[in-house]
Amino acid sequence: EERLEAIRELPKVELHLHHEGAAPPAFIRGLAQEKNIRLDGVFDERGHYAYDDFLGFLKVYEGATSVLKSPQDYARLTTAVLEECTKNGVIYAESFISPDFCGGGDLGAWREYLAAIREAADEAERSMGITLRGIVTCVRHFGPDKAKRAALCAAETAGDWITGFGMGGDENAGKQRDFAYSFDMAREAGLRLTTHAGEWRGPSEVVDALTDLKVERIGHGVRAIEDLALVDKLVENGIVLEVCPGSNVALGVCRNLAAHPIEKLRARGVKVTVSTDDPPFFHTTMKDEYEGLARTFRWDEEVFMDIARTSANAAFCDVATRDRLL
Ligand code: ADE
Ligand code: ZN
Repeated sequence: EERLEAIRELPKVELHLHHEGAAPPAFIRGLAQEKNIRLDGVFDERGHYAYDDFLGFLKVYEGATSVLKSPQDYARLTTAVLEECTKNGVIYAESFISPDFCGGGDLGAWREYLAAIREAADEAERSMGITLRGIVTCVRHFGPDKAKRAALCAAETAGDWITGFGMGGDENAGKQRDFAYSFDMAREAGLRLTTHAGEWRGPSEVVDALTDLKVERIGHGVRAIEDLALVDKLVENGIVLEVCPGSNVALGVCRNLAAHPIEKLRARGVKVTVSTDDPPFFHTTMKDEYEGLARTFRWDEEVFMDIARTSANAAFCDVATRDRLL
């Protein structure tokens, strides 16, 4: 259908993308082979990432990530990720990058990983025209002490490229407020804030994210729909949701796309954006996300351009970079 093809081709801004989670399986397999690392339980017989549920997904994610052992590996990963983004019409992306995986939380090592990632991103910008910025991310199930090390790495490298601090990982581990020290440190370093909330736990988790961590964006946040007073509060405060519909369906947060709350949230006035989270894990791409939403909710080009503008305005980059986008 012509309408859908035009929508797939629209320019896109992606705010919620995990750097390792965007690694093509063939790329991870290739690195494992080069290094003679055996990856057990990571791939199925078709060569796709294999897992049963969210905790299984996190395990496989960490298994795949275990082959990324040097700044050079992350440079190559960055190039591979940005090639995929560019194929999908993404002109600007923010990706979650964890010092826990890049040097084990050591600041000196982190600086080297970051330099390699930035160099690859700069080259991709020159050759493909795509702009990338980094959000330093702590991992919730690694606990508050590791998060503090990540926050220190974030604070020490905050600037025009590392523009935010965030948290991913198992939402059922601990409380948002256990990480308040780290988010305060990041905020004081001038970083913008986002955290995963309301993906696995209900609306109170989103309230905690806003109250205890004082974030301006929420990763997922879709379960806010279970409390309409909270939804109104999101509207009032201009909180941006980084919605990843394909991820939610693949992991079972939502039964299917038709049952996904993104349309209700948008209709009620919430600033929703669209991202892929970990595209190869969820067998999705930005083009597929756009097509699915266009088919399921009859969204037209205007809706998607509105979403791209909302995303650009919610991006953590400087205003001059943002104004060049759309
Ligand atoms: N890390 C990578 N993807 C994630 C997700 N969907 N939720 C929480 N942590 C993640
Ligand atoms: Zn995520």
